[in-house]
Amino acid sequence: MADSADVEQQAGEGGAEAATRAAGARAAGPHDAPERDPEGLVAVRALAIAAGNLVVQSGLTFDIRRGEVLVVMGPSGCGKSTLLRHLVGLERPLAGQVFYDGQDLHHGDVEALAALRRRFGVMFQAGALWSSMSLGENVMFPMRLFTRLGAAERRRRARFKLALVGLDGGFDLMPAQLSGGMRKRAALARALALEPELLYLDEPGSGLDPLNAARLDELVLNLRDHLGTAVVMVTHENASIMAVGDRALYLDPLAHTMTAYGAPRELLRNGPPEVRAFLQRGVVA
Ligand SMILES: Nc1ncnc2c1ncn2[C@@H]1O[C@H](COP(=O)(O)OP(=O)(O)OP(=O)(O)O)[C@@H](O)[C@H]1O
Ligand SMILES: [Mg+2]
Repeated sequence: MADSADVEQQAGEGGAEAATRAAGARAAGPHDAPERDPEGLVAVRALAIAAGNLVVQSGLTFDIRRGEVLVVMGPSGCGKSTLLRHLVGLERPLAGQVFYDGQDLHHGDVEALAALRRRFGVMFQAGALWSSMSLGENVMFPMRLFTRLGAAERRRRARFKLALVGLDGGFDLMPAQLSGGMRKRAALARALALEPELLYLDEPGSGLDPLNAARLDELVLNLRDHLGTAVVMVTHENASIMAVGDRALYLDPLAHTMTAYGAPRELLRNGPPEVRAFLQRGVVA
């Protein structure tokens, strides 16, 4: 799209056992990641993560490829949001690394981390907009913080982002004036403010009716197809997983590691039993 050309660019826990489990998980998928994935944008290696004092996952090894939609799935409480907070650099892992374009996200200096973080957009589970700002101001705010764009250009880009998510004409609306679905889309527009090459979305469809959830899935696919944006999408909605996922990662709440990594349809057919059961929830045979 026209706008993408002038882009403002934006432990060992578990030890051998976790490693074995992770290796097992990687063998499960047809798109198994080689040591260095040539299409890889982010490489996650032997990651162990905690929430508070709780080790929620360990032995996580996977890649996020350029221009793919990677779904992070698993039952409530398995650690999806915790993983996302680690992938964006908000929390430090107990062990392992997250390499972004070859750069270690958690072990560089503050400036290097800030430069990396400008390259991806994030929409957290709560996904709140700043309620005292209009939609346009919400989308322009990251531009004001992180770019030197002039006011007119910020305005032009914010209108473009809002149009992209179907909120043309919503520039001056306040968040309180919006429906739930519109608020989610506006939050997505804000995550797109800095034209990220990678977008992290935590349950973007939660709380939406099926029609609006499907609309959001469509938006995600459009971003991938038209802007080449890679998307990591956390969800436990089967319809979304099947609709958008090029590949999916399953975080097991009992094993505390990933037990599957591959194309969703392939996992539905040939994944481990717990993953097949997860993907068949609500399906009447
Ligand atoms: N700050 C915290 N302190 C202690 N425990 C936490 C904290 N945050 C999360 N947890 C626990 O860590 C585990 C993982 O939580 P997380 O929010 O990552 O799960 P999730 O997979 O995103 O779940 P959901 O699908 O419900 O959003 C849960 O057992 C949760 O209770
Ligand atoms: Mg969560």
